[in-house]
Amino acid sequence: MAKIISVFNQKGGVGKTTTNVNLCAALALEGKKVLSIDIDPQANSTSGFGVDKNNVEFTIYDVLINGYDINKTIVKTEIENLYVVPANIQLWGAEIELATSVERERTLREHLKKIKDKFDFIIIDCPPSLGLLSLNALTSSQTVIIPIQCEYYSLEGVGQLIETIRLVKRTLNSELDVEGVLLNMYDGRTNLSIQVVEEVKKYFKNKVYRTVIPRNIRLAEAPSFGQPIIIYDDKSKGSEAYKKLAKEFIDNQDTK
Ligand SMILES: Nc1ncnc2c1ncn2[C@@H]1O[C@H](COP(=O)(O)OP(=O)(O)OP(=O)(O)O)[C@@H](O)[C@H]1O
Ligand SMILES: [Mg+2]
Repeated sequence: MAKIISVFNQKGGVGKTTTNVNLCAALALEGKKVLSIDIDPQANSTSGFGVDKNNVEFTIYDVLINGYDINKTIVKTEIENLYVVPANIQLWGAEIELATSVERERTLREHLKKIKDKFDFIIIDCPPSLGLLSLNALTSSQTVIIPIQCEYYSLEGVGQLIETIRLVKRTLNSELDVEGVLLNMYDGRTNLSIQVVEEVKKYFKNKVYRTVIPRNIRLAEAPSFGQPIIIYDDKSKGSEAYKKLAKEFIDNQDTK
């Protein structure tokens, strides 16, 4: 049975998509069968995996709103073991269209039941807000990976983030747990990065990954080529970091 995981932080631009794309690719490289679901109308993950969002036949919108079989929407990527359910701009409407549905927060969860036995991990890239799309992701998930950018403002959002997860746990999904907190754009030469790490550890303790992701220009370039970092530049610091993260992630599964 697949473990279902959301990559979530309501703050924008912290590295959710970068982490989704590159962790999924690194896990596939480790031999895990992975499905990545893009539930963000920006569809950045979709293009990050090299899927043309202007030219896909079916998307997650068709599943959530039109009730299509999710199996029909799964696209194979160039990387073995790695599959994607794409999004496109149409998904902007889903937030409003879902609002009138009875099972509006549980729609995705029902659809995922059909494919849970086909993958080792199903990882969902969330938008930077707590609307119905993120709620569908969090309601479907056993755990959540929280990327945090190593800058001062991130700390201001952490309290809110913990509150959000508590709220979802209380109302929609009692089994939701934190998979891991990932420090992104880390620069060990700056006091600020070091301080942010210390503060984040106060909140999340042993849930903080030992692996940190450095600021690395290759990670920012890779999406414009539609390639995960392990394909775009496997020798880069960013690639090394995500491969290390995948190993730590897998080790954590054994101890849980
Ligand atoms: N470690 C890194 N080094 C360099 N650039 C990075 C790194 N992580 C992310 N970026 C860049 O920062 C920007 C934001 O990252 P990303 O899109 O992954 O964040 P996000 O949380 O998914 O954003 P949104 O909230 O809009 O969905 C992107 O341009 C990305 O390429
Ligand atoms: Mg994103």
